[in-house]
Amino acid sequence: MKVFLTGASGVMGRSSIDALHQAGHTVIGLARTAESAAQISAAGAEPCRGDVYDGDALVAGMRGCDAVANLATKVPVGTAALRPGSLKEVERIRVVGSKVVAIAAREAGVERIVQQSLSFIYADNGDEWIDEHSPIDLTGATEPVVVAEHRMARFAEKGGTSVSLRFGLVTGDDRNTAWMFRRARAGKAIGMGAKTSWMHVIHPADVGSAVVHALSAPGGIYNVGAEPVQRGDYVDTIAQAAGQKQGHFLPKWVERLGSDKLEILTRSQRISSQLFSDRTGWHPTYPKLTPDWFDALARV
Ligand SMILES: NC(=O)c1ccc[n+]([C@@H]2O[C@H](COP(=O)([O-])OP(=O)(O)OC[C@H]3O[C@@H](n4cnc5c(N)ncnc54)[C@H](OP(=O)(O)O)[C@@H]3O)[C@@H](O)[C@H]2O)c1
Repeated sequence: MKVFLTGASGVMGRSSIDALHQAGHTVIGLARTAESAAQISAAGAEPCRGDVYDGDALVAGMRGCDAVANLATKVPVGTAALRPGSLKEVERIRVVGSKVVAIAAREAGVERIVQQSLSFIYADNGDEWIDEHSPIDLTGATEPVVVAEHRMARFAEKGGTSVSLRFGLVTGDDRNTAWMFRRARAGKAIGMGAKTSWMHVIHPADVGSAVVHALSAPGGIYNVGAEPVQRGDYVDTIAQAAGQKQGHFLPKWVERLGSDKLEILTRSQRISSQLFSDRTGWHPTYPKLTPDWFDALARV
């Protein structure tokens, strides 16, 4: 297949280019800057200059493609997340960008869209398992994610196929994990929420393989991640990989300062990705969080 990627130079895009090439697909990657275009070329894909708000550039780049994977984001890293308005750009990408991408895909005659979504949107469910039918908790932070999924559902209503992948927290050699890893190495706190609460994580390498499997998945919404891990274990695993005995949790006032931006990172979400595995045969190469997820960071 010929696949058009937005966010091709980001952590999800890089993983997807590798996995798509390994599966024999051809990739065109959207690039906003010359630097991103060079990175995409170096990965063996064809860059297409433009951004997610430029419908004409998108239609031109998408013509002749069989599928689009909409992976563009602008997630603030580290303490930048606490700044007022820090989610403005990522929210705009989800609410406006996803609409422009879906309309462009239809205009270009593309039949399938894969949308990167987030499993943070589920309501806290304690120790109970969460699947795709579990309730969502809508807040200022989660609504744009749901809006983007709806944009894709509209694409499907008009005759295409859309697959939204609700990914867990990307955890590996990405910029946010690298920030946490540096803090943990210095003995600083990185944890939020209750130690016994559950979180849904995914290794960056498994994002790309999920995008490949989404190309043949029945349309719909799927959770995609490794086995859920309890926050205490998550924090200790990072700290131990960083050479410390154990990890530490931030004081509660930090969570309050971040209001609904950080609240989503404290929900107990024991999420199952079984449906996606059952429907597509996808299995994570990194099925359970272990210290080797941080090997690349430990070497730095
Ligand atoms: N599920 C998750 O947990 C999740 C999901 C996504 C990201 N994150 C985290 O967020 C952090 C930052 O992610 P990142 O390093 O991938 O970088 P990023 O700065 O968030 O950029 C991601 C990608 O989106 C593209 N992009 C941004 N704005 C765009 C726009 N207006 N139009 C078109 N493309 C646009 C970027 O293209 P350019 O290079 O051209 O700017 C880049 O390819 C990482 O730690 C990552 O793990 C987590």
